[in-house]
Amino acid sequence: MLNINYREAKAEIEQLRRTIDHHNHRYYTLDAPEVSDSEYDELVRRLLKLEADYPDLVTAESPTQRVGATPDNAFVSVRHRTRMLSLSNAFSLEDLENFLKRVSRELSGEKIEFVCELKMDGLAVSLTYEKGRFVRGATRGDGKTGEDITANLKTIRSLPLKLNISDVPPVFEVRGEVFLSKDQFLRINKERAAAEKSLFANPRNAAAGSLRQLDPKVTDRRRLQIYLFALGYIEGRSFKTHGDILEFLRGVGFPVNAKIRKVGSMDEAYRYCLDWQKQRDELPYEIDGIVIKVNDLDQQRRLGATAKAPRWSIAYKFPAEQRTTLVKDIVVSVGRTGALTPTAVLEPVRLSGSLISMATLHNEDEIQRKDIRIGDTVIVQKAGDVIPEVVAPVASKRDGSEKLFIMPKVCPVCGGKVERLKGEAIARCINIACPAQIFAGIVHFGSRGAMDIEGLGPSTVKSLLEAEAIKDISDLYYLKFADIKEKVPHFQDKAAGNLLSAIEASKKRPLSRLIFALGIRHVGARTAEVLADRFLSVKGLAAASYDELADIMEVGPVIAQSVISFFSEDNNQRIISRLRLAGLEMTAKKEQREASKFNGKSFVLTGKLTTLTRHQAEEKIKALGGRVSSTVSRNTDFVIAGEKAGGKLKKAKELKVPVLSEDEFIRLSAQSR
Ligand code: IVH
Repeated sequence: MLNINYREAKAEIEQLRRTIDHHNHRYYTLDAPEVSDSEYDELVRRLLKLEADYPDLVTAESPTQRVGATPDNAFVSVRHRTRMLSLSNAFSLEDLENFLKRVSRELSGEKIEFVCELKMDGLAVSLTYEKGRFVRGATRGDGKTGEDITANLKTIRSLPLKLNISDVPPVFEVRGEVFLSKDQFLRINKERAAAEKSLFANPRNAAAGSLRQLDPKVTDRRRLQIYLFALGYIEGRSFKTHGDILEFLRGVGFPVNAKIRKVGSMDEAYRYCLDWQKQRDELPYEIDGIVIKVNDLDQQRRLGATAKAPRWSIAYKFPAEQRTTLVKDIVVSVGRTGALTPTAVLEPVRLSGSLISMATLHNEDEIQRKDIRIGDTVIVQKAGDVIPEVVAPVASKRDGSEKLFIMPKVCPVCGGKVERLKGEAIARCINIACPAQIFAGIVHFGSRGAMDIEGLGPSTVKSLLEAEAIKDISDLYYLKFADIKEKVPHFQDKAAGNLLSAIEASKKRPLSRLIFALGIRHVGARTAEVLADRFLSVKGLAAASYDELADIMEVGPVIAQSVISFFSEDNNQRIISRLRLAGLEMTAKKEQREASKFNGKSFVLTGKLTTLTRHQAEEKIKALGGRVSSTVSRNTDFVIAGEKAGGKLKKAKELKVPVLSEDEFIRLSAQSR
């Protein structure tokens, strides 16, 4: 315990918070720190110590509270006060010109200023501040309703928890983009590769994955960033121009991109677009275009908006970046279903921020159609999220030494027969014992969307197969510590132990995951859920007839036939028996069995509940497959009204949404178990 009294502690805590917030702002927002890391750490340590001694002085806005526990309201629906619109796109300079012409025509010759901004390639979010305090952050969702991601957003150090402002607007919503820098993206992928986890395709996907984390500690380690660029709603304040709004946002402590420029002519707007198109690689984060906005808010109001996007703004999208490089070789890999996929091995080139050394060529026909030969100089491109692709050869660079690609007649891995069925583009190895298929099948089984066995990445699977410690997926559940240690020498004790616990934990995965993990042809994650809901056990699914399967709306004849063939294989039956014997969960959880009544339904809670706490009620709804939302609309399926329910109950009655009392809900949910 520190030798100071409550009053002194309170004063010092407040002073420390102001100082730490100030340094956070200098470091994360202005990129101009005033103190060394160790001086900063010392301040945080002192604050933590004081807060530990005086826990009732801890507040939500304290800089020590940025990384919390998983909150009760994570991902609950949040209704935006005003809709989050999207932007119209210009895919060429001509589109851009048309936009600028239309705007000046509609404003019939008035003087128009534009604000040019970088188009951040991240995820749109909306932040709500009440009395100057950050109370809620949400994803864009469908523009009307998003998901609550407050806890994850709080981990972004440049996001102010408390605003630097004296006459605070009572409520306001600001909009911006959460993104990940190129450096952090590379670091995260490096760490994931070392842990044999699947890699993120680009910073945007990594940022999306990070915001979707249940545990804010994981989000915190990702080091997300944010820029704000619009107001959603504000009370008690008005502005003349978009530039004034940005100035206001910057002034109260929000990070606003410093590259934003106000321009007075169309020509200057073009220049801004072309300059950044050239220089985008030099930025520490990815952008996918430029956003141009009419500056004057009165002009904006007169131009109005369509249902989707404002008519006073446009996003100029950069053309897909292209480079030329050499095709050193074309190699063929064999996937889980025996599909032979040709891939171009390239002389590495930098493209949209990443080094590209491979590009899929899809199949034989595609190679012929584009006439790509080994030794060709080719144009490669990457547009947005898309995996790099070979666009075309540069025929003028040929010198006659290029070789035509010929699809192998036998499997390059097992030497088995390769078949290409009539009307199909894909050639397949038809040997189900092909090691490449077994390998890919086991990797799929342990992958994130399937049984999610951490540590069972491609190189571990390869070692276990080579050492003959496993032959198929069922063997995973019979592995012993000694097996792994002896047969896979590069495994340390700890890694072996972790792998065994991860395998053990996977026994409890929901039925749909197991069905997906089995790798039945054409059965993806979504179809697996449909099958799990309908048949409720592996046994039930195995016993299903062709007609029963084909009758399901989302299934159809191809999948139905594939399921039947899968279960008619003796080897598959044997593997499933061994999985059952090993103790895997093979039936749907109780809730799933009876919950169809509440599954996928949207609930709103209102009034005071007397038997359940709000948290318990929400958990119950989620366990039954329902969603909890905060506002009543036509899309609400049930309103649960406790004591003294007010406006929401009235709204429910108006919209004829069924209303349940707390007791009725408890009774119905009990029947659902
Ligand atoms: S303005 C009413 N400005 O692009 C218009 N959007 O394609 C609101 N984005 O949903 C958007 N950088 O997530 C605006 N400087 C910028 C932006 C930007 C990135 C995103 C935003 C929006 C999407 C539309």
